[in-house]
Amino acid sequence: MQPPPDLPNLIYLGDNRDLFARLPDDSVDLVLTDPPYKNYRSNRPTAHPILKRIQHGQFDVELFARESYRVLKSGCHLYCFCDHLTFPGIRTALVEAGFKYRNCLVWVKNNHGSGDLRGNWAPQHEFIIFVSKGKPQPLRGRRQSNVLGRRPGKGLLEPFPKVSNYRFNHGTTKPVELLQMIIQASSKPDEIVLDPYGGSGSTAVACILEGRRYILSEIDPEYHRIALERISPESFIKP
Ligand SMILES: C[S@@+](CC[C@H](N)C(=O)[O-])C[C@H]1O[C@@H](n2cnc3c(N)ncnc32)[C@H](O)[C@@H]1O
Repeated sequence: MQPPPDLPNLIYLGDNRDLFARLPDDSVDLVLTDPPYKNYRSNRPTAHPILKRIQHGQFDVELFARESYRVLKSGCHLYCFCDHLTFPGIRTALVEAGFKYRNCLVWVKNNHGSGDLRGNWAPQHEFIIFVSKGKPQPLRGRRQSNVLGRRPGKGLLEPFPKVSNYRFNHGTTKPVELLQMIIQASSKPDEIVLDPYGGSGSTAVACILEGRRYILSEIDPEYHRIALERISPESFIKP
């Protein structure tokens, strides 16, 4: 089953419920997403007053899990960013929707967040839940560690450089290189990658660089505009 021809290579402005409703069953080759899984109100607005608050209220984890399972082709993979607090709930929702739990990848960052400055360890990683729809297709390329980063030398791990909060005026922009690594391992050229929580469009940029087709949705018009700017031909001339 193929999605309608206007959907691949689309960054849809609106709620992903509406986008999911337009996607046929078994029509997507990879789901890769970074939902608004935590309450960013605690630190970001004070530390970075010009950054907007990310809308976290709309993360309907059951809908996301159920609809992702429906639209993903059999054997294909889903990756979802989360942290140690949201991991159990997201994992449960995915498994209840029918996914097979496979692994929890760790993305080590080259900066750490703030939070409780004296009473707790500084957060310096995010988790990425990895599940499959039924028996998983093999991962492509050479076998990689589940701790993600650059590997410049034997045994060394170099974090992907952080994307400044001000680069795209979005507090949680992910490094494109990190997304490329996942896309390479879990899809083939020309296949369709779905990101229902598109943000500033990093998944679309990674798909273009990897020769994959993309379908994203973003509910916030300002982030949607930034995402469109990032995929414009001008941005690719001067990355
Ligand atoms: C954590 S951010 C994603 C950041 C993205 N990975 C990037 O690199 O820019 C989550 C995004 O989901 C958007 N969002 C929240 N609820 C949504 C919904 N129901 N449908 C579509 N987008 C939504 C938010 O506006 C936010 O930009």
